[in-house]
Amino acid sequence: MSAANTTTLSSSSSEPLGTSGSRDDNRYVELAAFYDNLMTSGYYDYDSFATALHQILDDGGEILDVGIGTGLLTEKLLRLARYDITGIDFSKSMIDQARLRLKGHPVTLVHADIRTYSRERPFDAAISCGGALCISNVLAPSREKGRLRLYSFCDDRQATANLAMHLHGQLRPGGRFAISIQGEHADAALPIRHGITYQQAVSFAPGKLRKTYRFLRGRRLLGEQTISLTYIEEADFLALFAEAGFSYEGVDASANYCIFRKGGSCLNRPRPGP
Ligand SMILES: C[S@@+](CC[C@H](N)C(=O)[O-])C[C@H]1O[C@@H](n2cnc3c(N)ncnc32)[C@H](O)[C@@H]1O
Repeated sequence: MSAANTTTLSSSSSEPLGTSGSRDDNRYVELAAFYDNLMTSGYYDYDSFATALHQILDDGGEILDVGIGTGLLTEKLLRLARYDITGIDFSKSMIDQARLRLKGHPVTLVHADIRTYSRERPFDAAISCGGALCISNVLAPSREKGRLRLYSFCDDRQATANLAMHLHGQLRPGGRFAISIQGEHADAALPIRHGITYQQAVSFAPGKLRKTYRFLRGRRLLGEQTISLTYIEEADFLALFAEAGFSYEGVDASANYCIFRKGGSCLNRPRPGP
């Protein structure tokens, strides 16, 4: 069953609750039940994300997806080329939906924290589309000329640097890592399917974002979750990736992804124009 049809909350889940009053939990628990409905009601344009990735990755290879979620992007990507995708996610309720969606596809799904997941054979590329790492254009909608900010599910800069080094170790020499770019996190509301209204509220502290997702039918609260992310400004995250051994290739032509490459010498090369 798709998440869009699911209005019961996951309070019977063995994962800790992220409901109001409990501690923040960056795993998607309450949010998972509404995720597909939200994302396919205009929150993300997966066609555009998949087409851009296809341009970046070419026609094949073994891809590591760093926070695959419910597999919405993977489904689109596999229509474009024969990728061999390994999707990691630490939210059981999300990856369970990915298993249903991607049944019969050549995809390996692993319920794990990417910070500890590793495979001996290196991957050709890694992607994070709004996953464990994502990038916002603080000046959106002028994405090409915007100022970028890295958001990380990790606790702080050091943990994010550790993750970058870990991912570097999972790639073959020359392998690319593409991180999606979206608009900056802000307060917003959006009607989604099944008569549900989505609301998000954000609060910033230096280097930190708390983001609360709420789903309502009329005035009735159906589900709520707050996550806490670390953010790192552009110059600093470029330095962080360089320290991890990546060279920066810039923003792709569609302005959907920042692209890093394992090794190479094009450190902080200017981004190509639109
Ligand atoms: C906004 S969702 C994006 C999902 C998917 N990439 C998409 O495009 O729909 C972020 C996902 O990253 C996962 N995630 C965040 N940090 C993670 C980590 N350290 N290890 C594994 N998964 C992680 C979350 O559980 C969540 O499913």
